[in-house]
Amino acid sequence: MSVDASVRLPGMELKNPVMTASGTFGYGLEFARYGDLRSLGGIVAKGLSLKPRAGNPMPRIAETPCGMLNAIGLQNCGVEVFLRDKLPRLPYDETPIIANLYACDADEFAELAGVLSAAEGVAALEVNISCPNVKAGGIAFGQDPAMAGKLTEAVKKRAGDKPVWVKLSPNVTDIVAIARAAVLGGADALTCINTLTGMSVDIRTRKPRLANVIGGLSGPAIKPVALRCVWQVCRAVSAPVIAVGGISCAEDVLEFILVGAHAVQIGTANFMRPDMAFRIAERLPALMEELGIENLEEYRCSIQV
Ligand SMILES: Cc1cc2nc3c(=O)[nH]c(=O)nc-3n(C[C@H](O)[C@H](O)[C@H](O)COP(=O)(O)O)c2cc1C
Repeated sequence: MSVDASVRLPGMELKNPVMTASGTFGYGLEFARYGDLRSLGGIVAKGLSLKPRAGNPMPRIAETPCGMLNAIGLQNCGVEVFLRDKLPRLPYDETPIIANLYACDADEFAELAGVLSAAEGVAALEVNISCPNVKAGGIAFGQDPAMAGKLTEAVKKRAGDKPVWVKLSPNVTDIVAIARAAVLGGADALTCINTLTGMSVDIRTRKPRLANVIGGLSGPAIKPVALRCVWQVCRAVSAPVIAVGGISCAEDVLEFILVGAHAVQIGTANFMRPDMAFRIAERLPALMEELGIENLEEYRCSIQV
């Protein structure tokens, strides 16, 4: 049996559903020595802001059972350096490169979208709406449906023909309400989910393990939460969903496709093994063959409840 692992997303075709998650795969280039970047379904770059940022003070990473906490805090080279020095060295002709946007108010998000939409080699814009909106006194865009919708609209207006993906936060009471608002605002796809808020302390030093005290929990610990969110969102909206959260083997990829995801992203697993995303992409067709799945379209959302 020959299997077809390719998937279609608005405006692009992926050779397989395995992408890398923003912030866990650098700008892609750093991982080129661990595998062929062309073998991946897509690469989502580290979150970009208009200006370079140094991020939060150290320590900003802490290990936890089955996962990790991070409070990197927007560290990135800035959009100009990305477009000038990083993007031209990525195989964007063969593997879609997705820019992840990080800003603190709607105008800045829209401006960033304008700059990135003009760039050849950027296949889509992924909007991280988990950043606190300083202008509105610290309310996160991703926690308020009205704000999520307005922000999506503002980005979409400046995105030209580039698809806009909105990345949802699980730190909400009702993720479906935010998903619906983003789709109404014009989102072409939803990425589901970002990290869960968490904390870790040291009883000997009596200090929090992160200088920022609170951080984002990721890794296998959050997989059941991600699966639940993807399942709920897939049932509620017709836009494609890109799943992320604790995925660390080809079996995990199929779990998310079974509940309705079109594609997936590998995050923290890249820190467990730097060649993890490549290995998962390579293993998937053999697993599909083993399970008698000819193509992912047929398998997607075929869960029986
Ligand atoms: C160190 C680190 C940095 C991250 N940076 C970003 C980022 O810049 N933008 C973003 O949207 N998500 C960021 N994330 C979230 C991941 O892309 C992903 O949504 C999350 O880690 C859950 O997936 P995982 O459990 O597979 O890691 C980051 C995660 C980690 C661990």
